[in-house]
Amino acid sequence: MKVFPDSFTWGTATAAYQIEGGWQEGGKGLSIWDAFTHTPGKILNGAKGDIACDHFHRFREDIALMESLGLKAYRLSLSWSRIFPQGRGEPNPEGLRFYSELLDCLLEKNIVPWVTLYHWDLPLALQVELDGWLNPALPDIFAEYARTCFEHFGDRVKHWITLNEPWVVSIFGHNNGVMAPGRVSRDEPYQVAHQLLRAHGKAVRVYREHFQVDQRGVIGITNNADWREPYTDSDKDHAAAQRALEFYLGWFADPIYLGSYPDCMRGRLQDRLPRFNQEDLALIRDSSDFFGLNHYTTHYAAHVEPGKPCKSDPYGNGGISDDQDVRLISDPSWEKASMNWNIVPWGCRKLLQWIDQRYGHPEIIITENGCALNDEIVDGRVEDPKRIAFIDQYLRAGHEAIEAGVNLNGYFVWSFMDNFEWALGPSMRFGLVYTDYPSLKRIPKSSAHWYGQLSQTNTLA
Ligand code: GAL
Repeated sequence: MKVFPDSFTWGTATAAYQIEGGWQEGGKGLSIWDAFTHTPGKILNGAKGDIACDHFHRFREDIALMESLGLKAYRLSLSWSRIFPQGRGEPNPEGLRFYSELLDCLLEKNIVPWVTLYHWDLPLALQVELDGWLNPALPDIFAEYARTCFEHFGDRVKHWITLNEPWVVSIFGHNNGVMAPGRVSRDEPYQVAHQLLRAHGKAVRVYREHFQVDQRGVIGITNNADWREPYTDSDKDHAAAQRALEFYLGWFADPIYLGSYPDCMRGRLQDRLPRFNQEDLALIRDSSDFFGLNHYTTHYAAHVEPGKPCKSDPYGNGGISDDQDVRLISDPSWEKASMNWNIVPWGCRKLLQWIDQRYGHPEIIITENGCALNDEIVDGRVEDPKRIAFIDQYLRAGHEAIEAGVNLNGYFVWSFMDNFEWALGPSMRFGLVYTDYPSLKRIPKSSAHWYGQLSQTNTLA
């Protein structure tokens, strides 16, 4: 029996663009994801999130389903362009009303909302007019959007996440261009990341100075990281694994917890890596009340001699490998889920311990973990024992970390329901609840019933 702390949060997660649909309803403006999915060739099979799971119309039914399953917390994101159709200016009353009703509905069912302000769907106007996150003016505009959200929803939302996975915005959005806004560059990722960190810091300052005392909530950021295990016992591979983690998670977490970018990044990138001024640093340092972590997979990391190409595992989420001199390798014996992601629960434990040590024992919340599988309806039911096994093993790894002294205090399954998986469209099934096109029926999978139970008992058998 593995008993989790009483304070442990059990939840599921989604993001606005992936589930809402209603892309041109309720006064919503366009986002960069609307534009990206409508650009031929960007998304597998030309899929679009115009309707997605139609949660915009069906949120009451979805929340009733959460309640019936026994789910206790729910991480959602707000669509910035639903609230500010042009990204700034006057807020859209219909957008505010939509989220207000959604939050009321959650609270009526005793489901605790965790709200992400930015899960990648930048208002298109800000991209077109200002070059999006490349522009140093964006952080202040984001902070104003955040202020509006705190004002309208902070009476009911006690857990805020400023940004989801700035690494993805930087690398997939601005290095290899596989995600919106689809830019391809070696330098822009570092500039964009810098503005994202400043945006996070400014939003947190607004919250702390004007809202936190009265509203009594917490605010943090969610970063993503895979684990990197040294490929061999050599010193060089140990250093490569450490470097890979610093280029991945340290890039965003070091400024917040340690007050600077990792030395190995500065040393290798020199002036390609922007510098914080004193004012920025004061904003960013200690700006997260908890450590939000999205974790999915693990790779081996091997040293590559400088100047030699770093042919990486294409699914390796390696960032700009040539800046790191790291090659990522998968063990062929590892089981994989549909995205070709390796299932390696011990990597989760090691990553939690690495975070605990490097960042001074923060409270860690796993804000996403889960796996895509080819689930099917058979006789009206969806059995997904592999997903149950996956979550079970990752939670056991988390529990081992807790026993080793790590302050892990929450876990959110990605995702509540099958949804629009970005560049891969609806082809990937991450949900505890099955949905498909065009029927959009909802069928809780066996994992949904199992996880609901687990959330109620706080105990893994
Ligand atoms: C995360 C992202 C989610 C979801 C998940 C599965 O990076 O935050 O939106 O897509 O990956 O791929």
